[in-house]
Amino acid sequence: MSEIVGVVGAGTMGNGIAQVAARAGYRVVMRDVSDEFLQRGMSAIDKSLQRDVDKARLALDEKAEIIGRIETVTETSALAGAFIVIEAVTEDLRLKRELFKMLDEVTGPDAILASNTSSISITKLGAATKRPDKVIGMHFMNPVPVMKLVEVIRGIATSDETHARVVELTEKLGKTPLECQDSPGFVSNRVLMPMINEAIFALYEGVATRESIDGIMKLGMNHPMGPLALADFIGLDVCLAIMNVLHEGLGDPKYRACPLLKKYVDAGWLGKKSGRGFYEY
Ligand SMILES: NC(=O)c1ccc[n+]([C@@H]2O[C@H](COP(=O)([O-])OP(=O)(O)OC[C@H]3O[C@@H](n4cnc5c(N)ncnc54)[C@H](O)[C@@H]3O)[C@@H](O)[C@H]2O)c1
Repeated sequence: MSEIVGVVGAGTMGNGIAQVAARAGYRVVMRDVSDEFLQRGMSAIDKSLQRDVDKARLALDEKAEIIGRIETVTETSALAGAFIVIEAVTEDLRLKRELFKMLDEVTGPDAILASNTSSISITKLGAATKRPDKVIGMHFMNPVPVMKLVEVIRGIATSDETHARVVELTEKLGKTPLECQDSPGFVSNRVLMPMINEAIFALYEGVATRESIDGIMKLGMNHPMGPLALADFIGLDVCLAIMNVLHEGLGDPKYRACPLLKKYVDAGWLGKKSGRGFYEY
């Protein structure tokens, strides 16, 4: 297989997507803004694949082949030969719009432009290009090599052909595509985030301790993680941003972010990544 998958962004999600695409046999061109970010992405891929080697789920030479299929670049022109580019840069509408405009110029006319955004409108990203029919959401879950789901999001102009090609690619990556329309939070975050937000309200109102809230949801609902621990894992700033997208986009007060969530974000208590959230790390 010599088809090229372009990946923009070598962070948590981008390097995971590059890894699964290379493992499925595709050549990958991964782009980030500096060599430092690219190296960090490649070392995350190396570590993740090494875990599979250690567990005898992958041969050492296969690991080397997978890594050999990934080319890292800072130049956007290197994405010209890709049949699809999957964007996984920082969650910022202006940045993503500019990037889609640029990708529209550098890629071939048939190339699909996909975004891994958690909350930005695919229709808006499509409107930044001259090919909105070829713009689509591919919402991978974290950690990408482990999680089976790809939420496939259709913008208002996304064509059936683009959708079909993305479903086929997702299956080749060993993932399960599930379709949804472009709507704030899509399905995953529209259902997940209000649950997390409600758990924060329960803590805020003194209904129960953090341990009780998480324990009740784990033992009672069979969730692998409690909602507060999950919020810490996702990042409280990310949770707040998504609640704001739901609130603004759907206009219903039931989506208002809990004041305690705002306060934690103001304090810089962002969860696992900052050493403190609802738990201490
Ligand atoms: N982390 C998650 O759990 C998760 C889950 C699903 C979706 N997402 C979405 O995936 C996207 C990426 O999130 P992440 O957690 O990987 O972020 P991250 O901060 O780990 O990585 C973002 C990367 O994008 C790079 N970048 C910024 N501007 C760029 C540009 N113009 N060109 C190339 N690279 C650029 C940064 O240097 C960084 O390496 C976001 O849209 C996010 O909403 C994240």
